Amino acid sequence: MDLKLKDKVAIITGASLGIGAETALLFAQEGACVVLVDLDEVNGKAVLEKITSSGGSATFLKIDVASEGEVKSGIHSVMEKFGRIDILVNNAGIYRKGDVLSFSEDDFSRVISVNVKGVLLCSKYAALAMKERNYGVIVNVASEAGIVGIKNQIVYNLSKAAVISITKSCAVDLAPYGIRVNCVCPGTTFTPLVEKALSRESDPVAVRRELESSRPLNRLGTPSEIASAILFLASDTVSYATGAVLSIDGGYTAW
Ligand SMILES: NC(=O)c1ccc[n+]([C@@H]2O[C@H](COP(=O)([O-])OP(=O)(O)OC[C@H]3O[C@@H](n4cnc5c(N)ncnc54)[C@H](O)[C@@H]3O)[C@@H](O)[C@H]2O)c1
Repeated sequence: MDLKLKDKVAIITGASLGIGAETALLFAQEGACVVLVDLDEVNGKAVLEKITSSGGSATFLKIDVASEGEVKSGIHSVMEKFGRIDILVNNAGIYRKGDVLSFSEDDFSRVISVNVKGVLLCSKYAALAMKERNYGVIVNVASEAGIVGIKNQIVYNLSKAAVISITKSCAVDLAPYGIRVNCVCPGTTFTPLVEKALSRESDPVAVRRELESSRPLNRLGTPSEIASAILFLASDTVSYATGAVLSIDGGYTAW
């Protein structure tokens, strides 16, 4: 299937590692001109190098998605360089453990700043640019944690429920400007984020096994399985979809 991404300008946040890096590589393979946004310059430059050395087109921007000033000037620089933004993937996100009895105010502030405010800020400034051409697609990366109350990660859960809510509100607000907004809800996917979380457990192997068996497909997802779903929603193949919430979770939320 030709997903017609050729020469589309696609901004992907959190593109230095994990799901974002895999999405950037896939979009570049499909012919998109990819703008890699991340705080992590070292891994970001490695993704950039991988794309350009195989003939793809990419640039890297060091931006904290939680900073309005950085997001605004980053979007401005993309517009100056390319003259348009076709696709925004709001993927950057952080994770913190802790239940209602133990979460800290600091964790709350940072998670909400990155996972919620970051999605809103990038959507705002990208949509202001997309609106001028009456065309744009935004794909948000929420989580299965936004659908059900996964134990001991209350702040992360609520941040991802907010991403689902942002998706629906933006879909309604931006439809008159030809901008579609959808989201994917990945299940546990083996990325550096999960690897780091597992390494903090006293028995990482047992916890991984528990995560695997908690879903009908009995395994964790891979970054490329999530990237494919993001690509699908970013393409005009699904031009009638807006406000959609697509679970890619091995059946976790289907039990
Ligand atoms: N891995 C999973 O199991 C899983 C499951 C469901 C949802 N998700 C979501 O998918 C997204 C990607 O997760 P991942 O597992 O690939 O994570 P990861 O930690 O492997 O990569 C996240 C990337 O985001 C970047 N980032 C973090 N804060 C940033 C900021 N303020 N500004 C710019 N970049 C920033 C990091 O530097 C990193 O490169 C996140 O939103 C996460 O919540 C992940």
